[in-house]
Amino acid sequence: MYLGIDLGTSGIKVLVMSHDQQIVATAHQPLTVERPATGWSEQDPASWITATAAAFDELAASAPRALRDVKAIGLSGHMHGATMLDAEDKPIAPCILWNDTRSFIEAAELDATPGFRELTGNIVFPGFTAPKLAWMRNNKPELFKAIKKVLLPKDYLRLWLTGNHVSDYSDSAGTAWLDVGKREWSAPLLSATGLDISHMPALAESTEATGTIRQVLADRWGFSPDVVVAGGAGDNAASALATGITGEGDAFLSLGTSGVIYAATNSYRPLPESAVHTFCHSTANHWCHMAVILAATDALNWYANLVGSKAADLTKALGSDIQGPGSSLFFPYLGGERTPHNDATIRGSFIGLAHPDNSETLTRTVLEGVSYAFKDGIRALEAAGTHLDRLIAVGGGSSSDYWLSLLATILDKQIDRPAAGDFGGAFGAARMGLVADQKCNPADVCTMPDIEKSFYPNRELQSGFNDSYARYAAAYSSLKDL
Ligand code: XUL
Repeated sequence: MYLGIDLGTSGIKVLVMSHDQQIVATAHQPLTVERPATGWSEQDPASWITATAAAFDELAASAPRALRDVKAIGLSGHMHGATMLDAEDKPIAPCILWNDTRSFIEAAELDATPGFRELTGNIVFPGFTAPKLAWMRNNKPELFKAIKKVLLPKDYLRLWLTGNHVSDYSDSAGTAWLDVGKREWSAPLLSATGLDISHMPALAESTEATGTIRQVLADRWGFSPDVVVAGGAGDNAASALATGITGEGDAFLSLGTSGVIYAATNSYRPLPESAVHTFCHSTANHWCHMAVILAATDALNWYANLVGSKAADLTKALGSDIQGPGSSLFFPYLGGERTPHNDATIRGSFIGLAHPDNSETLTRTVLEGVSYAFKDGIRALEAAGTHLDRLIAVGGGSSSDYWLSLLATILDKQIDRPAAGDFGGAFGAARMGLVADQKCNPADVCTMPDIEKSFYPNRELQSGFNDSYARYAAAYSSLKDL
């Protein structure tokens, strides 16, 4: 058995998978996000441990034999969070999360520092880890002085599980302290935020063992004491292994709270000015290109709330045959945008509203707007040399046939929806545990899922959508000026 833990922003998922990759048991525990000031987003690291322990309790009650048979644990987690520890490994403050934008000034300063983009291969986005530490240094100097280690969220769970300070390359690439091409911490990048290598964990591949479970935890839940904990990965790189994304040209499109197009690459090809994220992939000698849009289902949920409905009911009412674009446009920049604009201050809007518009036409407009944001992402990936023929769709929004047909048409790609199953970070993490234990080739076990339905571009409607996308793309600079 292999156990995968996915530390998500809104909850923890723990999954037990058999040797032949069948899911044997799962447990979920909710997590909350604190927003003590505008643009802030925090979580108490202690809550991750409480939630994981509660999930283990659930599994120990529902599947005790499965827990006894676990050979390895894999970890997945939300990326970029700054978990700042003192000399006793105690958090000195809440973890500052990936969607916290308080450090946008520090991010812009670091991004403008010569050498940063060259070494990290990325823009220093406000959500990344390094600017958060620069913010701490500027705003909480006393607390900053007490910091002895900075860990990413899932690596704090590893510290609890094994007692070791270790991270993997895929997650570490999102700190802005890693030389992403060389896969090593960069002393000059660290020193720009007043830190050095001693503040960083050791580095490992996602599928490598990083330690064994602490005896006290093995005793508490009946794990064997030689259970190893694999490197694990940031949530997107973990989902990539869950969907069998292992080589050049393989890609998934995630319609979750945020929207992600994740493509594995066989070489390191940064293009920071496109706002494409170039990170290490969760397999050795591979990297990835990622286009990140900050509000995907988040935008639809926001709209559903506004009209007193549920997102699923709104998309269901549209049926599955797509209609051509209406005259209105929606810009999903509710909390700023990453790819391609790198703009923390832009905000969303509807334009071109007309008398005939109603909640149904505007649902289509919202889906179109998010799909155009994905098209911006595809164009950025292409500029960075990543060309995709098909995308595997995952995430809550992928249950809508309408949305996937629309995306296939707007992106001009085949979109494949997997047959029912689990393609999230927890499953990918369990697969990393399996590879760490069996020391096999990740591509041999991280296979692609069976496809339930493929969606193809609607050629008749495509030129209308191309025109509408051209209006959408042209409007950005005017919106920005406003
Ligand atoms: C990726 C990113 C998010 C988080 C939260 O760069 O910020 O996908 O990992 O899930």
